[in-house]
Amino acid sequence: MKRKVTKAIFPVAGLGTRFLPATKSIPKEIMTLVDRPLIQYAIDEARAAGIKEFIFVTSRGKSALEDYFDNAPELESTLRKKNKTDLLDMLKSTNMDSGAIAYVRQNKALGLGHAVWCARRLLGNEPFAVILPDDVIAAEKPCLQEMVEAFAETGGNIVAAMEVPPEKTSAYGILDIQEEKGPLVHVKGMVEKPAEGSAPSNLAVIGRYILTPAIMQNLNRMKSGAGGEIQLTDAIAEEIAQSNNVYGYRFRGQRYDCGSKAGFLQATVAFGLARDDLGPEFWDYLTRMVAARKAAQ
Ligand code: UTP
Repeated sequence: MKRKVTKAIFPVAGLGTRFLPATKSIPKEIMTLVDRPLIQYAIDEARAAGIKEFIFVTSRGKSALEDYFDNAPELESTLRKKNKTDLLDMLKSTNMDSGAIAYVRQNKALGLGHAVWCARRLLGNEPFAVILPDDVIAAEKPCLQEMVEAFAETGGNIVAAMEVPPEKTSAYGILDIQEEKGPLVHVKGMVEKPAEGSAPSNLAVIGRYILTPAIMQNLNRMKSGAGGEIQLTDAIAEEIAQSNNVYGYRFRGQRYDCGSKAGFLQATVAFGLARDDLGPEFWDYLTRMVAARKAAQ
């Protein structure tokens, strides 16, 4: 099997209920960290990893996402006339080439596994990446790039993994570790949201995956049987049983759960502080605010 990964699936068909009422009309993935939509961070990470084909699994009410990746001729010509070349370059960097991007529809939110399965006809018999744009990762070397390189070595399914405190394991898919090989962890099991005290480790799966076509075959079977949510974790766990070919990858970097309000706020502060144009003023403001709150206690 080919070990070069050039296709990525972005499942963006979820309802985003944790961000209501905003998500009544704005796709969650368009919400901004400072001035860039979440989806832009995901696209930049995928591009850095060598992804050439971008497959979006969308749903009703997500047309703002499609517009976002299109050329904006009026805006571009206005900026050109005003000689605003910096803004123009920035705007152009968000355009996607014709044919590089494809949209498939998930007509019912039946779960992440089902969303990935919806893209099956666009994948062929190739390995593919899955990126959840809710998980934003600040890292020196982009997480997906590290994973793509690890895949070129191992050829196995790889899920991004990070340590979480024991009291948080029940919120994640948790890996059962067979063997540690540096950042790569050979996995012998995977449990979705284990009950407190029963997690096999504190290594949690987060939203980056490199998957082999076998996973799609597992999802195919699940589609025909199951009526409820179809979990990607189940299809990967099945692959452990069948081929013992699943790894966790301990990436280096800070992950923000931008699907939750607290995570989104933390990411906003971190990305705001990291900006040359905003950081110093923002830092001044935050330190004054913290001092005022302490004094008031
Ligand atoms: P979440 O579990 O965060 O669900 O999905 P959600 O609907 O986006 O948000 P809440 O929980 O209601 O606030 C994780 C990822 O899987 C996608 C979502 O778009 C998100 O990127 N997803 C989930 C689908 O594409 N389809 C689904 O049926 C479920």
